[in-house]
Amino acid sequence: MNVREGSIVILDSGGQYAHLIGNRVRRLGAFSEIRVAETPAKDLKGAAGIILSGGPQSVYEKGSPQMDRGIFDLGVPILGICYGHQWLANALGGEVKPGKKKEYGHADVTVTEPASSLFRGLPEHFGAWMSHGDEVARLPAGFLRTALSDTCRIAAMADETRKIFGVQFHLEVTHTQHGMEILKRFVDLCHPEPWSMESYSEHIGTALKKEVGERKVFMLVSGGVDSTVAFTLLNELLGKDRVQGLLVDTGLMRKNEVRNIRAAFDRLGITNLHIEDASEEFFAALKGVYDPEEKRKRIGNTFLAVQKRVSERMKLRMEDGWMLGQGTIYPDTIETKGTKHADHIKTHHNRVEAIAKMMEAGLVVEPLKDLYKDEVRILGEELGLPHEFVWRHPFPGPGLGVRILCAEAESFPEEIGTVDVPHLTLPVRSVGVQGDGRTYRHAVALFSDDRKISNVHRKMATTIPNTVPAFNRVVFCTSHATPPPVVFVPGYVSKDRADLLREADAVVDEELKRADLYETVWQFPVVLLPFGAKEGGQSIVLRPVESQEAMTANAAPLPDAVLSRMTERLLGLPGIDMVFLDLTSKPPATIEWE
Ligand code: XMP
Repeated sequence: MNVREGSIVILDSGGQYAHLIGNRVRRLGAFSEIRVAETPAKDLKGAAGIILSGGPQSVYEKGSPQMDRGIFDLGVPILGICYGHQWLANALGGEVKPGKKKEYGHADVTVTEPASSLFRGLPEHFGAWMSHGDEVARLPAGFLRTALSDTCRIAAMADETRKIFGVQFHLEVTHTQHGMEILKRFVDLCHPEPWSMESYSEHIGTALKKEVGERKVFMLVSGGVDSTVAFTLLNELLGKDRVQGLLVDTGLMRKNEVRNIRAAFDRLGITNLHIEDASEEFFAALKGVYDPEEKRKRIGNTFLAVQKRVSERMKLRMEDGWMLGQGTIYPDTIETKGTKHADHIKTHHNRVEAIAKMMEAGLVVEPLKDLYKDEVRILGEELGLPHEFVWRHPFPGPGLGVRILCAEAESFPEEIGTVDVPHLTLPVRSVGVQGDGRTYRHAVALFSDDRKISNVHRKMATTIPNTVPAFNRVVFCTSHATPPPVVFVPGYVSKDRADLLREADAVVDEELKRADLYETVWQFPVVLLPFGAKEGGQSIVLRPVESQEAMTANAAPLPDAVLSRMTERLLGLPGIDMVFLDLTSKPPATIEWE
């Protein structure tokens, strides 16, 4: 399939950053598309420019991504980043070698050609983010070195005549100073078709009307931003008689969520949303389930069963001209289509087999499939949804279900190693990521006399998982000065636990907004753990994170006053008697605990 005329194409070699590049390019006013690294050059005709992403492999490795060399004959500017930079050097006759030292993290870059078109006018030295083992050791003919770093002799190169550029550092991440300016210079050199979300919504409307034709669309609305915006858009374009929404109340939604969604739609005159309270069915399916994957599966299956039952009852049959609408967004579309070099390919719930079959039969419509999250939000505001609604923190599909930690029996690691401050091994495990794999290990809680977190504790959140294999997560106890004996209570997802977590989550949400921190924190899971300091008591973990699209994350700092207020209020909830703050970044921990 050919690319959109005048767009900038990112050829994905499997770096986790292809979407960041794509998203940044759009912020700069050009449409971007992500394609598999090996896309034939003939399919790229019409593109205004090409960016080669980073990737985990070495250019010499067997099976490493190899772009079609025909891209050099397209006559458009090309920018290689990290692996892309090395591939360019290798493909054009230069040389790539293993570096003397692997370079991960911050590096100081020095511009050696201040007149080069990507660096003109920038400071001579700037900080950049690097992650590589190999490096370009010899330039290809026609290239000039344009920058170096502490450990990398050719940190950037350019062939100004052919407009081919390479940078070893990741200019797409915010840790790279001036990264966006460098990218802007490249985008400007490409002279792309001007693009904006506002003009694009018109295009979406026209395409959608054509795709649906005379048919009608049935849509599951989860309460999340994507499905809500998609449903609102369908209503606006097709009219309420040709759209029907279904919201399944799983009993695992946040406090007042159903009511708020109803109110937002009421204000827009959208009345074709049926709300089915299936909470009892969900709790029945989750009774006695302790395994996290089994839990997710049961939530998914119950969802499908309820959806099927309701759509049959409402006579929303495909034979009668109904299609299925979904709120899938661009990263999900790409993730499962599987650019084949991506390290973590997971099947998104919008792409399970039954749905894939319907898609092949042309029975699924996805109005947001080419948009990034921030673009969906802009569209939502254009459609009249309230600002605070469309800018809500992302919330996982299975809702509070994944934040109610379940365990049948307490467990402890065999060997603990040394931890130098007062601490407690928590009797439950949580999920983490290490390299490309998942871990399922214990968390350790740190304590301090004044219940205040210091830099020592923050540092230990990095050093402990690196040095003590038993732990993948470090939390700080904000409710106790010294480790109390803890009492474990077996727990699965029940109505009582969901109600308790719903209250806790609402308290945290309220305090965060009151402190005016809602928009600086990217996401704030609140997790319920099945143990406490007293018989029958349970614990709450606060998990505020800063992140870019959830791929990596840092623990977001919270002012002491906010933290102690949250803690006090949480301890006031009957049944909560311990509170922790999660200090771990991702990796080694994940954002959610399960
Ligand atoms: P992790 O925990 O993997 O989470 O760091 C990354 C992002 O994904 C969200 N998440 C989910 N979203 N269904 C979803 O729709 C799920 O099962 C699920 N699990 C995690 C999580 O909230 C975070 O934003």
